[in-house]
Amino acid sequence: MNLSTKNINLGIKDIDPVFGSVVPPIFPTSTYIFKNAKQGAQRFSGKEKGMIYSRFTNPTVDILAKRIASLEGAETAIITASGMSAITLVLLHFLNKGDHILAHKVVYGGTYEFISRILPRYGIEIDFIDFKNEKEITSKIKPNTKILYFESPTNPLLEIIDIEKIVKIGKNKKILTVFDNTFAPPPIQNPIKLGIDIVIHSLTKYIGGHSDLIGGAIIGRKKLIDDLFNKSFIFFGPTMSPFSAYLALRGLSTLEIRLKQQSKNALTIAQFLEKHPKIEKVFYPGLPSHSDYKIAKKQMTDFGGVLSFIVKGGYKNGEKLVNKVKIIHLAVSLGAVESLIEHPASMTHSELTPEERKKAGIEEGLIRLSVGLEDIDDLISDLKQALS
Ligand SMILES: Cc1ncc(COP(=O)(O)O)c(C=O)c1O
Repeated sequence: MNLSTKNINLGIKDIDPVFGSVVPPIFPTSTYIFKNAKQGAQRFSGKEKGMIYSRFTNPTVDILAKRIASLEGAETAIITASGMSAITLVLLHFLNKGDHILAHKVVYGGTYEFISRILPRYGIEIDFIDFKNEKEITSKIKPNTKILYFESPTNPLLEIIDIEKIVKIGKNKKILTVFDNTFAPPPIQNPIKLGIDIVIHSLTKYIGGHSDLIGGAIIGRKKLIDDLFNKSFIFFGPTMSPFSAYLALRGLSTLEIRLKQQSKNALTIAQFLEKHPKIEKVFYPGLPSHSDYKIAKKQMTDFGGVLSFIVKGGYKNGEKLVNKVKIIHLAVSLGAVESLIEHPASMTHSELTPEERKKAGIEEGLIRLSVGLEDIDDLISDLKQALS
């Protein structure tokens, strides 16, 4: 089966042999009846497959895990209650006191805070460096370096990191590579095929796709993921509810077609903005003017729905623009059917000083736009009227 077919059908024949439901049913049960003590013992020992307790596994969440593993072309996956719980679980499981993590200097804000504020409390050494600079990575690797952590495209400037280059370093030095693929799910980008060890998703974004759930996933080889499941996941307990899993499954079934259309809409808007006299610069990896266009073309088949741009006139005009749009919603998050706009300087990056923002390349007039599935002419008219 190809991608869209699997996203819609994988595992459906096994989940409901009683009624033959074509949609994965929601199993809102916290526990499961054993036929007798022997069966209970066999389930706990792992000799018999089956459900025990929903903090561990649940049929609705399980079918989502199977489909997410298949989406990424990986052996297995674990579903979590949020993208952040997937990230924190991976880091806390694979890092021990005295270990060292190297992360790219631009990662999702929550991830940055977790690595910089919480990991050091557990005796873990951290370094944020530039993953575009191979020499810097190799010079910063220490005997205790256990994880290379990064995302691509990055947020909010949509920089592209060469995944294969990082994989090569990880394999040479026997360091685990962990990659957050939230911004470009398959078929756009396939980090497992490029050799990444562990892929993470916030299912809240493109995979859910409808701004109606929070969720995450951890994906990779069975040996690594099973170890994480047995030794950490079941004790930390970041379990997704079957109701959210149902919504994620529903979202997943249209992922491929949504990504195609959102990428098309985003490129059209990026091209429109690039020519607009009130716009200083547009950041979209699908534009030949993007500084990483070549790497993007190498490792991505399309470029997703998120773009950012600098509106002339700094902070004031940035704020003004997001107040003036009428169809596009002023809200954070991304990857949904609704277009969402935000002004990093006054919102997601407001805790940084203007100097810190400048250093991170976040200009005062920078705007991030997640393009949805509304009619493209309506979206362009909305931006046109707001800019005028
Ligand atoms: C790239 C990326 N990773 C992880 C997360 C965290 O996901 P969640 O909000 O589902 O916990 C986000 C949230 O915006 C994100 O953008």
